[in-house]
Amino acid sequence: MERRARKCWTIASLTSFSLLLRFILAVECTLSLRTSPENQIRLPPGAPFKIALFADLHFGENAWTDWGPHQDVNSLKVMSTVLDKEKPDFAIYLGDVITANNIPIANASLYWDQAISPTRNRCIPWASVFGNHDDAPFEWPMEWFSVTGIPQLHCPTANSSYSGEEDCSFRGTRRLELMRNEIGDNTLSFSKAGPKELWPSISNYVLQLSSPSNPESPVAFLYFMDSGGGSYPEVISRAQAEWFKHKSRELNPDSRALCRVPEIIFWHIPSKAYKKVAPTFLLFSSCVGSINKESVAPQEDEMGIMKLLEERPSVKAVFVGHNHGLDWCCPYKKLWLCFARHTGYGGYGNWPRGARILEISQDPFSLKSWIRMEDGHSHSEVILSS
Ligand SMILES: *[C@@H]1O[C@H](CO)[C@@H](O)[C@H](O)[C@H]1NC(C)=O
Ligand SMILES: *[C@@H]1O[C@H](CO)[C@@H](O)[C@H](O)[C@H]1NC(C)=O
Repeated sequence: MERRARKCWTIASLTSFSLLLRFILAVECTLSLRTSPENQIRLPPGAPFKIALFADLHFGENAWTDWGPHQDVNSLKVMSTVLDKEKPDFAIYLGDVITANNIPIANASLYWDQAISPTRNRCIPWASVFGNHDDAPFEWPMEWFSVTGIPQLHCPTANSSYSGEEDCSFRGTRRLELMRNEIGDNTLSFSKAGPKELWPSISNYVLQLSSPSNPESPVAFLYFMDSGGGSYPEVISRAQAEWFKHKSRELNPDSRALCRVPEIIFWHIPSKAYKKVAPTFLLFSSCVGSINKESVAPQEDEMGIMKLLEERPSVKAVFVGHNHGLDWCCPYKKLWLCFARHTGYGGYGNWPRGARILEISQDPFSLKSWIRMEDGHSHSEVILSS
């Protein structure tokens, strides 16, 4: 009896201690973020910087069934396992965070918010880009019409902040609104709504990883781009390519080769270049990965972005999601083209879930990557730059 009581007391005090620790960490985390410019992330001193890529979570899928919400619970578990095992410094949501075409409520940000909660709860900052499902218009399920011939509307209640009939038509939540809600509600979010000239593509921005000793000194630039889909075509436009060209020249002038800062690129839908490097047999190729179960589903059109990336020796790797059955990295010219790993239980395919991890070291610079699975094991380690 006595022993049990002591054990309980120990657990209770541990819990309150960890709560206190969490509170202190949360305060510290928020403060250190506030002191740095909003697009800069300071690397931890004396340790590599680790990023977890969460791809294709597809929250809110079939939200009206039992199956759908159950998948979201499973996806939360995958992210929690990866975050606890790897303890990354940062997370990137690589698009298809939600399945908007299946979400029968007016505000899809409520699902978006669930998807980022494991990262936020651990006080880990993050950034996100859009995929082709995030603002897709709602598709009425056929079975809703079957019984009475009248769909069962789940309209917001009369006293909610919504008004009028349009809320019952489930137009979906627009990219800009999703992004503004994410940024407005979260001090840990490094996402940006991109330059206005590039709309309707929204998630176009750069983050600078800075040296721990000198925030002015960049260690790497992370470029995020919106590869479209959903409410407009799946494309990285000529205007976005031009934006990248000017931004990269401004931040990282090409003139002195030795001083070039490495650049890493993130978007959702693979470019056509991925088709060129896709291996027939993964095992007998120069690619590194564990599943090669489908063909690359590239963007609808190619408007110059790959050419710009190929021409810049500072660009080390591109990371995309979209294809749930592919998780490889393949060399392409002087850079690497990588898939993330399907993280969500939403979306097609039953391959085991996981997350690609990136590890960036300074002095000398290196970019290493591997995949951490939901059962805790890791595989497919590869050095992408050193
Ligand atoms: C939608 O949900 C988000 C996230 O909870 C919230 O910040 C936002 O205010 C909501 N929008 C409306 C119009 O209620
Ligand atoms: C809306 O109405 C319901 C029931 O009529 C009530 O329980 C709820 O508190 C109301 N919500 C707001 C925000 O007023």
